[in-house]
Order: sequence, then structure tokens, then C-alpha cells
Amino acid sequence: MRLILLGAPGAGKGTQANFIKEKFNIPQISTGDMLRAAVKAGTPLGLEAKKVMDAGGLVSDDIIIGLVKDRLKQADCANGYLFDGFPRTIPQADAMKEAGVAIDYVLEIDVPDDAIIERMSGRRVHQTSGRTYHVKYNPPKVEGKDDVTGEELIQRDDDKEATVMKRLAVYHEQTEVLVDYYNKWALSGTPGAPKYRKISGVGPVEEIRDRALAALAE
Ligand code: AP5
Ligand code: ZN
Repeated sequence: MRLILLGAPGAGKGTQANFIKEKFNIPQISTGDMLRAAVKAGTPLGLEAKKVMDAGGLVSDDIIIGLVKDRLKQADCANGYLFDGFPRTIPQADAMKEAGVAIDYVLEIDVPDDAIIERMSGRRVHQTSGRTYHVKYNPPKVEGKDDVTGEELIQRDDDKEATVMKRLAVYHEQTEVLVDYYNKWALSGTPGAPKYRKISGVGPVEEIRDRALAALAE
């Protein structure tokens, strides 16, 4: 299974990626998680990316495309992969097409903007694994601690309301065009075209998991 999860910031891509990667035994390639790991490690890329991420902007296409191409060379991608938060611009999508990176499904998770702010303000993450919780909608078993490791959960620096608003605007300006891009490709009937599926991301996490897995079985 090779798929792209498409959706606004806070739509639940990371949350659903967790279920999908287990079901198909594939790695989750989250460019956001990769950038946050670089920030934490204090690499030159991390230092540069942090400024852009904290401002709610997008890191340059060249850097992101390079990161993903390198990641795809790793052995665990042989069985498939799940892209989370990538591609995010037309040049990123084109680069994957040109490199012949196969995609079976594009799954769009649709959540209206007004639900996003509340999701972001309650989000807590386990930094090393990227596991994501919500204080109200998806709480950890022990408050403030990761379910698997028991380690401390943190709040993301880019989850401040002003940054979230900017990220949403950037999504509508630069990423939403990919809905059309992949829909057109899917309908084109060209060999290797992916299937396009859209589900609502509103409702309980487990219900959306069931919707996602059903959509990927069609
Ligand atoms: P990235 O990490 O990709 O962030 P994002 O796309 O903005 O998405 P999020 O991770 O915020 O949301 P999500 O959809 O994963 O939702 P989640 O499951 O966590 O990117 C961060 C930054 O890195 C970008 O702004 C950019 O600067 C840079 N970057 C990354 N990729 C890039 C690229 N390709 N090109 C250029 N720059 C790039 O859920 C959110 C919250 O809601 C959680 O608290 C969760 O528990 C809760 N929740 C989930 N489902 C539900 C539900 N059904 N009901 C209620 N609450 C729910
Ligand atoms: Zn995410």
C-alpha cells in the first residue's frame, strides 16, 4: 500500500496515520515529524526550518523533496509507505510523479476550519515517536504521559492560535490545489493513476479510522 494523506493542519492526518500504518505494515513518512527531529537535533536544517515552522510558513520545496527522496531509499519502504503532510505544493507533487514514486491511494480527510483551532489548542505530542493526543478528544491513559513509553508529552511550538491561523491560510493558498491535482489524475484513467478517496474527519477518532480503512478497501 502506497498512499498520501491529504488534509488541513489538524485534520487528523497523524492520528489516522497511526492506524493505517499498522494495518498495512508500512512506514509513516511525515515531513513535519522529520523537520521536528532536525530541530530537536539542532542540525543546520533544523535551525533554518524552525524559523519557518514557527511562522506557519512552508519549508522550501528543494529541501523537502531531498528529504523524502532520501527516506524512500530506506529498506522499510519496500512494502509501501504513507505520506503524511507531503506533498504540500504542486512542485512537490510533480517531483514525486517525475521520480516515478508510485501512489495507490490519495485519502483526503476533510475538517472545516472552525473545528481546527480547538483541536490544535488541545493537542499534546510524544516528541520521539510523534504519537498525538488531545486533552479532551483523545486523552492519554495517564495525564501528560505517552501511553507506550510513559514519557512526558509536550505542546508543539506552532500550535499557538496566531500560527495555526497562518498555517490554515497557507494550506488554502498552496496545498488545497492538490485536491484538484490528484482528483484530475485519478479520473484521467492513465496507467499508474491513484484512486482518490475523500472522507469526513469530523466525529470520534475510531469512527474516522473505520471510514479511512473502508475507503482504502474500495
Ligand atoms: P505538519 O507536522 O505536517 O503539520 P500539519 O500538516 O499542519 O498537520 P498537523 O500535524 O498540525 O495536523 P494533523 O493533520 O497531523 O492532525 P493530528 O492528527 O495531529 O507540518 C508542520 C510544519 O512543518 C508546517 O507548518 C511546515 O512549516 C513544515 N512542513 C511539513 N511538511 C512540509 C512540506 N511537505 N513542505 C513544506 N513544509 C512542510 O490531530 C490534531 C489534533 O486533533 C490532535 O490533538 C488530535 O488528538 C486531535 N484529533 C484528531 N482526530 C480528532 C477527531 N476526530 N476529533 C477530535 N479531535 C481529533
Ligand atoms: Zn501531523
